[in-house]
Amino acid sequence: VIDATEKIVCPSFVDLHVHFRDPGQTYKEDIESGSKAAVAGGYTTVVCMPNTQPALDDVPLIRYVIERGEEVGLCRVLPAGAITKGRKGRELTEMALLKDAGAVYFTDDGAPVMDSFIMRKAMEYAGSIGSFVADHCEDLNLSQNGVAHEGEIAAALGLPPLPPEAEDTMVARDCVLSIQTGMPVHICHISSRLAVEIVAWAKAMGAKVTAEVTPHHLYLTDEEFLDFSCVAKVSPPLRTHEDIEATRWALASGIIDFVATDHAPHAHHEKMQDLQVCPPGMLGLQFALPIVLELVKKDYMDLTRLVEVMSTNPAKKIGLRPPQIKVGETAEFTIFDPFETWEVNEDTILSKSKNTPLLGRKLTGKVKYTFYNGKIVYKD
Ligand code: NCD
Ligand code: ZN
Ligand code: ZN
Ligand code: ZN
Repeated sequence: VIDATEKIVCPSFVDLHVHFRDPGQTYKEDIESGSKAAVAGGYTTVVCMPNTQPALDDVPLIRYVIERGEEVGLCRVLPAGAITKGRKGRELTEMALLKDAGAVYFTDDGAPVMDSFIMRKAMEYAGSIGSFVADHCEDLNLSQNGVAHEGEIAAALGLPPLPPEAEDTMVARDCVLSIQTGMPVHICHISSRLAVEIVAWAKAMGAKVTAEVTPHHLYLTDEEFLDFSCVAKVSPPLRTHEDIEATRWALASGIIDFVATDHAPHAHHEKMQDLQVCPPGMLGLQFALPIVLELVKKDYMDLTRLVEVMSTNPAKKIGLRPPQIKVGETAEFTIFDPFETWEVNEDTILSKSKNTPLLGRKLTGKVKYTFYNGKIVYKD
């Protein structure tokens, strides 16, 4: 018997954007450690990005992720296929074959800007086989060697600035290409106020554009650089209070379709390197619920919308039946305590890597149980 007094029972969460580093960089995370962090965050479906080593650009690699995920058995681990071979931005992969093998969408996430011609061809190919492409949306020609959002903090700390138009121009380009081709495009980790306005405009034009936002872009600002060095570095960069406010309202109102964590584990020694060379990215799977719950408490949205943005909407986006609260073999839900406070630390983080500016801080909202395939896969 499970006592759910004063707890909330809801469909478990679906994250369309995680980096499990498997194969190739399993010292940062692997499918097993990533799955453990996922179910502890209330997730039972995750989509792994293809920026592994090698990149997920052929059928055996797509099959590997699915089969390894099933072997671990804690949650549904699905792969996103690379758009281009080796994620080099030149030659399209055999998307139709990758889709048949189980790739749920296509992205070169993390790779340098893809030129507009390749992006249009990719949109048309993916759209024609009933799939879609997702774009990282940062123009490296504009961001140069920037590490922090261009603004007061970067200026005060003397950090190389990264202007928001590096993101805005790519979001605008992708929206235009989507309108012109009539094909879908998904904007990864949207973070700037203007990019949100552009997506709102594209949607008003009838474009098949969807967008996701990360927990960190809903919650943290570039002020994190005051206390953290590389641990605060992420692409796109943490921005300002105004940007956070814009993404929160956009998520509440439907301009942004769902939350995706962009869970990006990196090892301690990598994050200790010089700010210029250290890899961008931070963890997300265990922090999404408390952060979105805070938006409910602050009255940006209600719990129904929380379920939409954390579960139903991302599930539908990849054609998955949304998780079901029920008994029996298909039970797939999570039970959380909306008022329990816990500390983020090396012990509570279940990922192999511990890279997050939330280390040492307290969050409110704790997953107590996660059910997948009718079984308990996580118990607090
Ligand atoms: C991601 C990673 O580490 O793979 N890093 C990041 O800062 N977001 C890559 C990505 O999502 O673009
Ligand atoms: Zn990205
Ligand atoms: Zn402030
Ligand atoms: Zn990513």
